[in-house]
Order: sequence, then structure tokens, then C-alpha cells
Amino acid sequence: MSQRDTYIQRIRRLPITHMDQGEVRWQSPSNIALVKYWGKLGDQIPMNPSLSFTLQQCHTDTIIRFTHRAGVYTSPEISFRFEGSLRPSFEKRMTTYLQSIQDLCPFLTHYKLEIESVNSFPFGAGIASSASAYSALALCLTSIEDLLYQDLEDDDLYRSKTSFLARLGSGSACRSIYAEAAWWGSSEDLAGSSDDYAIGLSDVLHDAYLDMHDAIVIVSSDEKSVSSSRGHELMSAHPYRENRVRQATTHARHMLSALQTGDLDAFGSILEREALAIHGLMISSYPGYFLLNGQTITLIDSLRAFREDTKVPVYFTLDAGPNLHILYPSSVASEVSEWLENLDPQMVDEIIYDRVGPGPIQLI
Ligand code: PMV
Repeated sequence: MSQRDTYIQRIRRLPITHMDQGEVRWQSPSNIALVKYWGKLGDQIPMNPSLSFTLQQCHTDTIIRFTHRAGVYTSPEISFRFEGSLRPSFEKRMTTYLQSIQDLCPFLTHYKLEIESVNSFPFGAGIASSASAYSALALCLTSIEDLLYQDLEDDDLYRSKTSFLARLGSGSACRSIYAEAAWWGSSEDLAGSSDDYAIGLSDVLHDAYLDMHDAIVIVSSDEKSVSSSRGHELMSAHPYRENRVRQATTHARHMLSALQTGDLDAFGSILEREALAIHGLMISSYPGYFLLNGQTITLIDSLRAFREDTKVPVYFTLDAGPNLHILYPSSVASEVSEWLENLDPQMVDEIIYDRVGPGPIQLI
């Protein structure tokens, strides 16, 4: 039986407690992939395992007020405000998402949901917001489920169902549910790993990474010319698809080992190869495209020269965009901040200082 069917059967068997109304609220962070999810099969099933650090400062705060609907309905009713304003296009996307998970969350048709979300980082600043947005939403949904069915007191079950729901909104969101670091994708290298949901890596993470910083250097906030969804789609017929899956599987295994042993050199080496690999895949897709730009390349060269000269352990990665994530431990924070502050202001719009964090926080 699929994981989805297991969840559906489980919730169908449970009695629902009646509540006239209630509210739940979660703050959930974004994450930065160390080994990238790039390419999917079917319903957000990844072609390869991925790993990420959970961030702290870049997060979404979502509150859901739910009110019982008298009568019988076949689809959810929601209103959605983002940063205080009604956003019809977001509301539409969210309604489609909620309709797609109605069988997993049957209470969605019994309650009207008023959803409000706020991001801690500027919207459109070039930071992927879907991971924090869908993880915060999924956390709220499983909290409502727990209030109505009292069925998720087991933390592992709570986390895996939440991660499952978040994945269906945006693949990478499934990794934001866990403190510090997470792995998503079934693999013989990690017991308990699954394509259906992510699992946390805190238990195996070396202390060297607990104070890892991520300075996000925004070189452009322009809307991406090619969306991540389209990028994933282009992987299906990509000439390097098989090799990419092999490469990412090997990178994930080696990255896991670097995370366990605290080997920063190995960590940095895989991190940078991964970043360049996914942009290489974009360039060699058909049609090929660039999401990085000249400034990205100049900054990478400059970072590598700084590292070569100073031997400071500082490394970059990239998301699906031109902005750099600069990763370094606290012990070298002052040297790296000085380097960052001296970057050519013509090339940098903004720097957001983030770091590895404790994961989502329940506010109500
Ligand atoms: O979750 P999506 O569909 O937005 O895809 C995310 C893809 C990357 O951010 C480039 C990599 C990743 O694993 O987060």
C-alpha cells in the first residue's frame, strides 16, 4: 500500500471531535540544499536523494483560524492574506493544493480556513519562499488534525505526516520540518529514508555544523526566467539524467559522511560541486538556460581567491537563482563578514545573515 493510502485509511478510521472553531500558528524556516533535489517523478517524488541545512532567520509565520461549516461540502473554503493583503493568485494556488490533499485531511471540507502568512524576509528578494510557506502551512494542518482527531501524539508520525503534506506543496518544503539538517529521498545509505517524506539528521550531525552561518548574497531579485517546476520537468528528458542521479546519490552519501565526521574540506568540496552541477544541468537542458549571471561568477571567483589566500573554511552554494549562499562556521565569522562587507556594492543588492537553526516553532 502506498504511504498516501496508509495515511488515508488511518484517518478514515478515526472519530472526529467536534470543535466550533480554533486556531493554530507555526513559524517555519526555509532551508538550503547541500545536495540538490533536481528532477522529479510523478507526484513530487524526487529523482535523487537531497540534503539540507534548516535555516533560522528566513521563515514564514502562518496562522490558521478554522470555523465549523454547517452542512455538507465537497471542497475546502479558504481566505488567504499574505503580509496583510488578500492575494487572489496565492489563494488560488493554495486552494488547488488543499483540494489535492483533501483525502489526507478530510476536515478540510468541514471547516472554513482563514489563513494569514508573513515572511521574515522581503518577498521577491530572490529567496525561495515555498519551502518555508508550505512547511508552515503543513504544520498548521497537522496541528488542526491533532486537535480534531488526537492522533499525532507520536512525534515521528507527526513530523513524517507533516513532511509528507509539505512535500506535496513544494518538494523542498518537506525538509524544513526538522531542526538543523534533513535528508529526503529513499536510499540504502540511510536507514528510515523515504521518497515520501524527509527525516531529520540532528542525531548524526557533527557539532562542527551546529553554528554554521549562511550569508545570502542577493545579486538580483528579478523574477526567475525559468521556474523550478519547469527546471524539474526539463530533467525528465535531460541527456545527462542517468549520470545526474548517480552523481547526486554519490554526493549525498559523501555529504552525509562529511556531516557525521565534521570534515569541512569534504563538506565544502561536495557543496560547491553540487551548486555548479545543477546550474550545469540548466545550461545543458533543452532548451538550455541560465539562472546565474556574470556577478554570480565574479563572486564565486572572488570567494575562491579569498579562501586560497586566507585558508578560511568558507564555501558557496546556489539555489535555482543567481544569489550566493556563503557557508562558514562561527569561528571565522569576523573574517568572512569583513570580506562580505568589502564586496563591490555595485554587485550586491543585499546580504541576509542566516544560520543553521532549531527548526519550526509552534506559536499557538
Ligand atoms: O521545491 P522546489 O520544487 O521549489 O525545488 C527546489 C529545487 C532547489 O531549490 C534548486 C534544490 C533543493 O533541493 O532545494
